[in-house]
Amino acid sequence: MNFATTLFSVFFFIASVLSQGVRLSSPTDGQTVSPGQQIVVSVTRPPTLSSSEEVAVVLGLTTCSTSTGCPAPTDGLAHVLYNGPYSPAYPDPNPAHLQPHQNFTVAIPADMQQGKAVLSVSHFALLGAALIPWTQFANVTVDVQ
Ligand SMILES: *[C@@H]1O[C@H](CO)[C@@H](O)[C@H](O)[C@H]1NC(C)=O
Ligand SMILES: *[C@@H]1O[C@H](CO)[C@@H](O)[C@H](O)[C@H]1NC(C)=O
Repeated sequence: MNFATTLFSVFFFIASVLSQGVRLSSPTDGQTVSPGQQIVVSVTRPPTLSSSEEVAVVLGLTTCSTSTGCPAPTDGLAHVLYNGPYSPAYPDPNPAHLQPHQNFTVAIPADMQQGKAVLSVSHFALLGAALIPWTQFANVTVDVQ
C-alpha cells in the first residue's frame, strides 16, 4: 500500500466510523418511566453509503448518582434490558420518512430505584471492506418515578 492509498483508507475509515453511529430516538431525553412499565426503545442507524455489517446491541439502564452523576456504559450497565442482534430497517410503508431503525419493547425493572437513570445503547458493528470490529455508545437520561 502506498502513502496515498493508506491515507485514503484512514480517511475512509474515519468517515465510515462517524456515519455508522446509532442513536436513541425513543425514549426522549428527560422522559418519565415507571418501574415495571413496558417501553419502546427505538435504536436508529442513519443510512450510509459505506459498507458495514451489524452485529448486536445491548440496552442498559443504570441509576445515576446524586453526587457523581450518570455513569458511563463502560463502568457497567447494572440492568440489561436487551442483549442481542441488531437489524435496523426502513419501516414499510414509511409515511413519516423515518431513518432505518429497530424497535425493542423492554420492561423497566420492577425494583428500579426512583430518580434519574441513564438508558444506554452499546453498539457493535464491523466496518468497511476489512470488517474492522467497532463499538460505539449513545444514551438518554430518563426519570424513574
Ligand atoms: C451521554 O451522551 C452524551 C452525548 O450525547 C455524552 O456527552 C455523555 O457523556 C453521555 N453520558 C454517559 C453517562 O455516557
Ligand atoms: C418505532 O418506534 C417509534 C417511536 O415509538 C415509531 O415512531 C416508529 O413508527 C416505530 N417503528 C416501527 C417499525 O414500528
